[in-house]
Amino acid sequence: MTMKIGLVGCGSVADYGHLPAIGEVEEVELIALADLNERQLKEQASKYDVKHTFTDYRNLLEMKELEAVVVTTPANTHHRIVLDALDAGKHVLCEKPISDEPDKGWEMVKAAKATGKILAVCFEYRLWGPFKDIKVWLDKNLIGPIHVLRLIYNWNGPNGEGQRRKLHMTVEGGPIYDCGVHYFDLGRWYLNSEYKQINAIGVHVEGYENPDHVIVTVEFENGTIGLIEESYIYTTRSKDWHKFTQVDVIGTNGAMCYLSTHGSPGVGELRVHSPEETIVTNYEAGEKPFAALHRAFAESVKRGKIVDIASGEDGVKAIEAAGKALNLARREKSM
Ligand SMILES: NC(=O)c1ccc[n+]([C@@H]2O[C@H](COP(=O)([O-])OP(=O)(O)OC[C@H]3O[C@@H](n4cnc5c(N)ncnc54)[C@H](O)[C@@H]3O)[C@@H](O)[C@H]2O)c1
Repeated sequence: MTMKIGLVGCGSVADYGHLPAIGEVEEVELIALADLNERQLKEQASKYDVKHTFTDYRNLLEMKELEAVVVTTPANTHHRIVLDALDAGKHVLCEKPISDEPDKGWEMVKAAKATGKILAVCFEYRLWGPFKDIKVWLDKNLIGPIHVLRLIYNWNGPNGEGQRRKLHMTVEGGPIYDCGVHYFDLGRWYLNSEYKQINAIGVHVEGYENPDHVIVTVEFENGTIGLIEESYIYTTRSKDWHKFTQVDVIGTNGAMCYLSTHGSPGVGELRVHSPEETIVTNYEAGEKPFAALHRAFAESVKRGKIVDIASGEDGVKAIEAAGKALNLARREKSM
């Protein structure tokens, strides 16, 4: 039996990520869409042949046949929409950042527990070739105890300039919160350890209240030290936009290095240096793994527990860490 789902928020990530991917996933059937913007709503409904459309998401939640809802609206709207969806008896797959404040995030987690529904968060990097393989090697303990972790993602930011960039630099918290949550999530997932100490500095280039480029140093509870660096101003004004992604894991017995300079974090080369051998893998899948994300969500609903996907709790722990880094990076500017 396929799971009938609805999606709230027919903007950018729904357009390039969720909507095309859902069509590839046999386990789910998209039957309803909601968006405040009627033009966008009708456009997507016609493109994906979706029967039911609503400008008020609360009407979508009234549909009895809907088992689950995908929330792809801006971060500051997730809390209300997710609570209403859980209250209406729906499972929820919520875009990152789970919320703009950890307290609201914990309330969402609590509501999911109380209703017995699945609340999962879109941290699809966990399912993306190189990022997933690094976790596989780590779990095999190939390079021994880990001492240092570096996670770097520098890019030009959402759509150069304009309304979308403004949304992501303000409501979404700028690069260290908006995009950084993916990497804060990878850090604790890779090491099975929580953040113990966080320090951060940032620069304000375009004049938003949130810094455009942030460098964070961290210490995990297990003693590993790390660096997380995020930018939305890397090549923004250059002739050609460029993206730079690097993940380094340094252990007692070896190191792993993933380097991507090809325009998508998913295209690059992973080198694993262990005592026995050096393994080099090239990745060419530039598309984010949204289909795998929806399969994992459907499987989680079927089994009644989180499987191969980040939970609401993971979502909140990532925003707690990213929020702390953002506050420190902002404070540094005002000194
Ligand atoms: N997982 C990823 O890799 C990834 C990538 C990009 C964006 N995102 C996240 O997805 C979310 C949306 O980002 P986006 O870039 O698509 O934004 P967007 O502005 O392009 O789209 C948001 C849409 O939500 C609609 N909307 C807003 N409030 C609503 C409400 N109350 N009811 C119904 N519709 C409403 C807007 O009209 C708009 O169409 C953000 O949380 C963002 O951080 C995640």
